Amino acid sequence: MQIFTKINDIKAAITLLKAKKYRIGFVPTMGALHNGHLSLIYKAKAENDITVCSIFVNPVQFNNTEDFEKYPIQNDTDIDLLKNSKCDLVFLPSVKEMYPEPPTEKFNFGTLENVMEGAFRPGHFNGVAIVVKKLFEIITPDKAYFGEKDFQQLMIIKSLIKKLNLRIEIVACPIIRESDGLAMSSRNVRLTEHQRKIAPEIHALLKKCADHSMEFSLEHVKSEVIKSIEAIPEFKLDYFEIADEENLQPISNWSDSDTPRAFVAIFLDKVRLIDNMKIFCNFAKS
Ligand code: PAJ
Repeated sequence: MQIFTKINDIKAAITLLKAKKYRIGFVPTMGALHNGHLSLIYKAKAENDITVCSIFVNPVQFNNTEDFEKYPIQNDTDIDLLKNSKCDLVFLPSVKEMYPEPPTEKFNFGTLENVMEGAFRPGHFNGVAIVVKKLFEIITPDKAYFGEKDFQQLMIIKSLIKKLNLRIEIVACPIIRESDGLAMSSRNVRLTEHQRKIAPEIHALLKKCADHSMEFSLEHVKSEVIKSIEAIPEFKLDYFEIADEENLQPISNWSDSDTPRAFVAIFLDKVRLIDNMKIFCNFAKS
């Protein structure tokens, strides 16, 4: 596995690989890798000749300084994990390398970014788009892999691809969970033992929402889930929304969407966790 820290060096390596007609799969990450990230690497490996992973804690996508400062960094462990998973190239640039000047580009994702993460984390998706666009220019992949864990981000990236007319296939990968249901996240290591014990309730409540979609109105299910979240003193709710998974607009009735999905963001003290779940309610439209 080759490790690069300079843009020009990885570009040169990729030019050589492309000359051999190798197909490039790309997995952008912010490191502190877990099995969720590795599932993307495995999928990229299965579908491409060469797999590239980037590790870059992107300062411009953090709307909260403390979240940025406390973001876990474990490059040595990450490199071992990537070696074991037979990743081919790793790109590990510094902030100066990625942003010699502070980036100022502004994107407009319209209604996709006015809800949920976009509404609660102002500037977040603009920062994600800045870094992903730059990484796509450097790596020039054939396919890029994103997790449904960050479902809204996935839709923003698909929109970015269309806006920029890029010929990169975006591959959506399912959420990987711990055995107790908690969605794997680099932020989970920041949870206290007690918080870690109650955090799986987030998944349990999403499941309850999905199960009850068959029996009850959306309004009822939503208010019951919100009540259950608010009854847990350690949880501070940012949002719980049921939205159409294509346009991400919140819906008020099950019949408003053929593809509803539940989305949640919760603080446990300073640690913010997000999760989501597809809802199958074909025979429950009420
Ligand atoms: P990061 O949070 O490190 O996640 C990198 C990729 O791994 C994202 O596509 C994310 O959705 C996916 N991922 C994380 N946890 C997952 C899980 N439990 N199951 C499946 N996939 C999971 O997302 C980012 O970094 C950044 O915003 C980035 C796209 C790299 C831009 O800076």
